[in-house]
This record gives sequence, structure tokens and C-alpha cells, in this order.
Amino acid sequence: MSAFSGFYKKTIPERLEILKTERGLTDEEVKVLTDSGSLSLETANHMIENVIGVEHLPLGVAPGFLINGKEYVVPMCIEEPSVIAAAANGAKLATKSGGFTAEADEPIMTGQVQILGVGEDALEKFEANREEISNAAKELCLGMEQYGGGFRSCEAHVLDTKRGKMLIAIFYVDVRDAMGANTINTLLEKISPLLEEKIGGKTRLRILTNLAMRRKARAKCTWKKEILGEETIEAILDAYELAANDIYRCCTHNKGIMNGVDAVALATGNDWRAVEASVHAFAAMDGYSPLNKFYKNDVGDLVGEIELPLTVGTVGGAINTNPIAKISLKILGVKSAQELSMVMASVGLAENFAALRALGTEGIQKGHMKLHAANLAVTAGAKGDEIELVSKKLAEGGKYSVEAARNILKELRGE
Ligand code: HMG
Repeated sequence: MSAFSGFYKKTIPERLEILKTERGLTDEEVKVLTDSGSLSLETANHMIENVIGVEHLPLGVAPGFLINGKEYVVPMCIEEPSVIAAAANGAKLATKSGGFTAEADEPIMTGQVQILGVGEDALEKFEANREEISNAAKELCLGMEQYGGGFRSCEAHVLDTKRGKMLIAIFYVDVRDAMGANTINTLLEKISPLLEEKIGGKTRLRILTNLAMRRKARAKCTWKKEILGEETIEAILDAYELAANDIYRCCTHNKGIMNGVDAVALATGNDWRAVEASVHAFAAMDGYSPLNKFYKNDVGDLVGEIELPLTVGTVGGAINTNPIAKISLKILGVKSAQELSMVMASVGLAENFAALRALGTEGIQKGHMKLHAANLAVTAGAKGDEIELVSKKLAEGGKYSVEAARNILKELRGE
């Protein structure tokens, strides 16, 4: 039996003991995790501007993810109840069917240089000088080569706009385990004078695109009909079909996927806004569509597939300064940014699977509200042991509101 089985039924100290044994967390790391002020004001002051404090969010783990035959315990940072339970539930049912298979592209980031005031022959000039531009770009990315990355290629296209013709030069850089924004933006700024010299015109914007089409991760799972039941499979397919045909549902469907993806991005110190922007632009490329798909295979099992552009790293940026991000990566045990992106794609798929399973059968409120009950109890003023007692009574009554929690609390206190 896995050491993580029934993890959510244990106390926080018991959970931390398991992580010490199973993931090698040190006493020092456990202290950082349990000290909810572990991001010191001093460190925070070096991370962003005008610091006045530190905001806290809960960090949990979803155990039981089997991806490409490896078991992962996935750290997730999120304010919303039931997201982690849903991920764990999706993972558990996936594991019973053999788990997820996942893959990721090479970590290629893309950057754009906008060149204004160019002549009709701008593209020809770019092509004529492409080798020299490529050699210069390679030189500027030499630092990345020691890690196996570096400049990969460049290309250009012309846009006819209201503000005239512009040439957009595009650079592709393998950034290995970094998110890569700084690497690519530095290259773009440094290569611009050469572009102006060779093509003419004036460079204006020199910036990465978060729509990292060459940096996608994919995950797949086949949930067996003997485990799910045919009715549940039909329910999930109906739910999916609505998202595939209706943008109002599709928005929420994709939000459900991102519940999982963003929570891992946050836990591991990644730029979740970059992830959000990239993923929704990708979903909108052909008319806004679900980020995943569900279908039945020829033996009637449910197949789920997901593909996401994911600009995430395991080194650099806030990952180096935020102690929690480092511990999260240790718990996760990923060796590269590519591996992290495969886990994130699998979590997104598991999350959506669990939500559709609940939505298509018993409805979302039963599982979600049961877990939200503790929040209601706290809002109603419950303290200590009262919180669990009030949550339990709310679940028994099946009526979830702050008012109901207040009434239960009054009764408990004999008021
Ligand atoms: P259940 O089948 O009633 O629970 O599910 P269970 O007690 O049989 O447990 C099944 C497994 O779920 C457990 O296995 C755990 O893995 C996990 P076990 O370890 O016992 O062998 N699990 C938990 N993990 C951690 N903490 C817990 C916990 N409880 C169960 N407390 C469950 C209950 C909530 C999991 C289920 O109803 C579910 O998956 N619901 C979906 C909830 C969801 O999607 N929440 C996301 C927030 S709602 C939202 O914003 C998104 C949405 O709008 C997106 C959309 O519309 O698509 C819905």
C-alpha cells in the first residue's frame, strides 16, 4: 500500500512525517513549510516593489499521480476547496486504469522583434542576412549552451497594419529548465541593432510571446469502463460535448482545467499569468475550444487527451528566491522543466475529468460543498474543534450557507 494512501485523513504533523520519510524533507524544510511566515519580509522586499507584507495561500499535495510509470506527489497552492481532492480523485481513478502517459516538446521559447518603417524588400533582406543574424543570435545565447540549450532558429514575416508595414522577426531559443523570459528578452534587445543595420527601419517592441507554440506538453489517460461504469462515461462525454459547442460552458470547462494547472504553477514558483495567457490564446486559435478532448475507444473505455503550451521552469526567477517553491519541486521530484510541464498537463486532465464526472452525475455541490463546509464554519465564527463539528452537521443537513452554519454553532454553544 502506498505511504500516501488516506493522506487527507491524517493530521498535518502525520502528513509531514510521511513527506520526511518518502520525499526526504529535512527538519529545516518542514519548519519552513509549517511556519506560515516563512517568506521573510526581507526576501519578499527583493522579489517585488513597494512591499508592505506577505499574502498567504494554503499549500497542499495531491498524491497518487502515476505518469509514464513514475509516481508523483503533486504540490498545489490554491485558495479553493475541493480542487486538490478532485485532482487526487482523478489521479486515483487514472492509476486504476494504468495512469497517464505524457510527453513534452523541447523547451523552446519564442521572441518577437517588431521592425517599423521597412521597405518592400524587408523580407528579402532578412532572408539574405539570415545566416549572419543567426550566428549573432547564437553568440548571444552561448550561456545557455552549457546546459544543452541555446539559439535554435529565426524567421520573419511581414504585417500590413494601420500604422504601416512592419517586419516581425521571430527567434527561437532552447531555454532548458528556465522559464526563459529573461534569456529571450535579452537576446531580442541585443540583436536589434544588427537587425536595423541589415534590414533598415527601426525596431520597436522586443519581447517574448507567451504563446509558446513550440513548448507544448501533452497527457493522455484511458479510464477503463469496468472502473468508471458506462453511465459515467456517457455523462462525461455529454458534459464535454457542451464545452465543445458552447463558449459559455467552454470558459468554465477550461477554468476547471486551469484550477489544477495554476495551482501547480503557483506551488512551484512559476509565472501563472504567463501560463494562463498562453493557454487561453492557444484555446482561441481556431475559435475558443476546450483544451482537452474526451472520446470512447473501440472497446468503450473513456480516453482523455490534453495539450497545452506551458512556459514553466524549475530554475531561475522566483523559484530561486521563494523557499516554498524549492521544497515543492523537491516533493514533486521532477528533473526538468519538461517533466514539470508533463505533470501539469496530467493534473489539468485529472482535474477536468473529476469535475466532469461529478457534474455529469451527482452534481458538483455534493463533493465541493462538503469540503467548503469548513470555510463556512470559520466564516460563521467557529473556532478549534467547533469547525469540524459544524462542518459535519452542515454536511448531514445538506444545506450549505453561513446562516445555517451560524445556527448550528449557536445550538452547539447552547446560545
Ligand atoms: P467522493 O467519490 O465522494 O469521495 O469524491 P471519496 O470519499 O470516495 O474519495 C475518492 C477519492 O477522492 C479519495 O480516494 C481521494 O483520492 C480523493 P482515497 O484516498 O480515499 O482512496 N478525496 C480527497 N482527497 C483529499 N482530501 C479530501 C478528499 N476526499 C476525497 N477531503 C470529491 C469527493 C470531492 C473528490 C469528488 O466529488 C470530486 O472529484 N468532485 C469534483 C470537485 C471539483 O471539481 N472541484 C473543483 C472546484 S469547483 C470548480 O471551480 C470547477 C468547475 O466549475 C469546473 C467545471 O465546471 O468544469 C466544477
